[in-house]
Amino acid sequence: MEKNRVFSLLVLVLLWFMISGEFFETTHSLSVGINYGQIANNLPSPTRVAGLLGSLNISKVKLYDSDPNVLRAFIDSNVEFIIGIGNENVANMTDHSKAYTWVQQHVQPYLPRTRITCITVGNEVFSGNDTALKSNLLPAMQSIYEALVALQLDKQVNVSTAHSVAILGNSYPPSAGSFRPDVAEFIQPLLNFHSMANSPFLINVYPFFAYKDNPSSVPLDYVLFRPNSGVTDPNTNLNYDNMLYAQVDSVYSAIMAMGHLNIDVQISETGWPSKGDPDEVGATPEYAGIYNGNLLQRLAMKQGTPLKPSVPIDVYVFALFNEDLKTGPTSERNYGLYYPNGTPVYNIGLNGRLPSMPSSSSSSKLLGMSPELAFLMFVIVALFQQLW
Ligand SMILES: *[C@@H]1O[C@H](CO)[C@@H](O)[C@H](O)[C@H]1NC(C)=O
Ligand SMILES: *[C@@H]1O[C@H](CO)[C@@H](O)[C@H](O)[C@H]1NC(C)=O
Ligand SMILES: *[C@@H]1O[C@H](CO)[C@@H](O)[C@H](O)[C@H]1NC(C)=O
Ligand SMILES: *[C@@H]1O[C@H](CO)[C@@H](O)[C@H](O)[C@H]1NC(C)=O
Repeated sequence: MEKNRVFSLLVLVLLWFMISGEFFETTHSLSVGINYGQIANNLPSPTRVAGLLGSLNISKVKLYDSDPNVLRAFIDSNVEFIIGIGNENVANMTDHSKAYTWVQQHVQPYLPRTRITCITVGNEVFSGNDTALKSNLLPAMQSIYEALVALQLDKQVNVSTAHSVAILGNSYPPSAGSFRPDVAEFIQPLLNFHSMANSPFLINVYPFFAYKDNPSSVPLDYVLFRPNSGVTDPNTNLNYDNMLYAQVDSVYSAIMAMGHLNIDVQISETGWPSKGDPDEVGATPEYAGIYNGNLLQRLAMKQGTPLKPSVPIDVYVFALFNEDLKTGPTSERNYGLYYPNGTPVYNIGLNGRLPSMPSSSSSSKLLGMSPELAFLMFVIVALFQQLW
């Protein structure tokens, strides 16, 4: 009798696992990274953000600075960090001793308990018009790298910089991708550096801009990852069903055209705004939800681009929160997946929860426990009650 009840409970548990393959899905960390921008005056504390990201099981975060409050809040969290050196600080970093001191103060103290795995030096430097900054970029990256080597951290921390796709002169067809002639002189030695240091080439890619600039000729389905016949590259016969992959492959082609075949390309930013000015066509919660939702599905499938089908795309979505203090058009303040109060801007099935009170990441993980886990614990408790 007693044994029978235990047995039927076990069968129930087994059935639950068989029916809800979801239990296993939710125990995987999301393979998407997220940009945690902080140009705002109303964001939750980093400790609460650690709780939110823990409940989402997001394990890759990109910062634009090296905010000690954030890096401390993520101690022992297993979240990988890309941290940033702002453009305003690039010139200083060309000085070896300043670079060494910077790494000693902003990287070394946090390792290994906060997992800093990459430093970006500057953001979109080559699409701007500051010529001194352009010339300083590589020397700054080199001194940061040398500082890491001196501190024996170079194997655990990469050095890179993030580019805008505006550095491409030609991006269509993808096989004909090439860098703008005026930036090529900077890119060639930069690629030599990536190759020597084995660090990834980072690119910020926004199909939204292409659509917004030309809504009548850029097909919406093609930019939103919806079913469409795509475009075929006449040189390779590869078919592209979305613009993001086409732009990434244009970057691969541009790099290969400069003689480098083994440099990884990663997407340091992509996203879609949920709100814009009247002239920003497509900036709606509906399209933002479709873009980011479909992107997450592609990531879950571990898809590569047509040119590199076996290399899963590596993406940092822009951004975690809407940032109210960003300047520029309305869209700039509306790229977030979340409002600062932790409410999702649109529903794409992310069931994250912002802890209401400051809490340690371990207790917030318990709060963010999945229903499957809760059910499992309930069953275990029930089993114990049966046995004793
Ligand atoms: C989160 O992801 C990690 C790494 O894949 C996994 O070990 C862990 O069980 C996941 N946790 C949850 C609550 O899904
Ligand atoms: C660059 O270095 C100088 C001298 O050490 C310092 O005064 C200045 O604040 C630094 N600039 C930045 C942006 O950190
Ligand atoms: C070029 O530089 C000027 C002055 O520094 C600046 O105001 C302007 O926004 C820059 N233009 C671009 C395209 O970056
Ligand atoms: C550094 O980048 C290379 C090339 O993309 C990659 O293989 C390696 O895992 C990265 N290292 C770390 C610590 O993330």
